[in-house]
Amino acid sequence: MTKYKIATLPGDGIGPEVMTTAVSILEVLAESRGDIAFEFTELPVGDELKARTGIAMPQGTVEAIRESDAALFAAVGETAKEVILPLRQELELYANVRPTKVYPNVPSLKEGVDIVMVRENTEGLYKMVGHRGPDWGVNLRIITRQASERIARFAFEYAVRNGRSKVTSVHKNNVLDLTCGVFLEACRGVAESYPGIGYQEMIVDACAMKLILSPEQFDVLVTTNMFGDILSDEAAAIVGGLGMAPSGNIGEKNGIFEPVHGSAPDIAGKGIANPIAMILSASMMLEWLGETELSKTIETAVIEVLEEAETLTPDLGGSATTEQVAAAIEKKI
Ligand code: NAI
Ligand code: MG
Repeated sequence: MTKYKIATLPGDGIGPEVMTTAVSILEVLAESRGDIAFEFTELPVGDELKARTGIAMPQGTVEAIRESDAALFAAVGETAKEVILPLRQELELYANVRPTKVYPNVPSLKEGVDIVMVRENTEGLYKMVGHRGPDWGVNLRIITRQASERIARFAFEYAVRNGRSKVTSVHKNNVLDLTCGVFLEACRGVAESYPGIGYQEMIVDACAMKLILSPEQFDVLVTTNMFGDILSDEAAAIVGGLGMAPSGNIGEKNGIFEPVHGSAPDIAGKGIANPIAMILSASMMLEWLGETELSKTIETAVIEVLEEAETLTPDLGGSATTEQVAAAIEKKI
């Protein structure tokens, strides 16, 4: 019997609503298999916790994740800066992997899109180094060769492992040459050791446009922290919105898997959040744990439910609840 210790961080708003579905699906999966088990440890974080206790992320949260085999994070609200950013940095979860894939019957802009965004997750503008004066502010954009090489290598290794053919490095070297220069040099160096994978470079503003006009031309994208943050939300819109966008924060030892979306206060408490982004994040977690077959089982179940198009949440044009979608996916499993 293989046993995995999974930390869960439901957070705020729709976070707990979608986390419940992922946990339940993993339990159904374990039951149907019989030779695998999950032990869940819930870790409270977020706005609501801060309102009650004055602190958004209790001491010991990082340690608890370190001791788990993997973690699932749903979403927090205004305290994102105090929770998910420090987690990414303290646990050195340097690669933010965001697949953008068109699934059946989703309101997508284009067919045949299957992009993976690999975003550097520890530095750049999100290092939070800067100064604030009464009428001015400075945020330093910190880019190192070490982190740039590490993320470039991750992107190429990802391409090799997943049978992908091209890596596009996204930058703004025409203006931000001090920092993007370091990033591009690192990418070019790494690209040389992968002759079997195509390599190209694209300026971020042009990339933002081409993602909408011809997303099918992209395969793996690698970029710095903030560009990746913005482009991956944009990419999510191509494939049916944030309810369909999973992600992983991956380091050498730990991984936290989370939907790209936030706490969605506009729909929280209504029971209509699309749980698929969270469920596909759980599927990514299983893949990272080496449980490829289980990971595929979840994704296939999601695809079957989407193909039937009978049980969809309002963001996908349906009228089903979060729970009904999760139940339909469980039934397929
Ligand atoms: P958001 O992702 O929460 O919502 C943006 C829009 O997408 C909303 O209209 C929402 O209803 C919709 N949406 C998001 N997830 C959905 C789902 N699963 N099903 C159906 N519709 C969904 O982003 P927003 O509104 O900019 O931020 C809300 C709060 O979330 C803020 O406090 C922000 O700081 C936080 N946030 C937290 C993140 C995290 O925990 N990693 C990431 C992004 C935002
Ligand atoms: Mg974002």
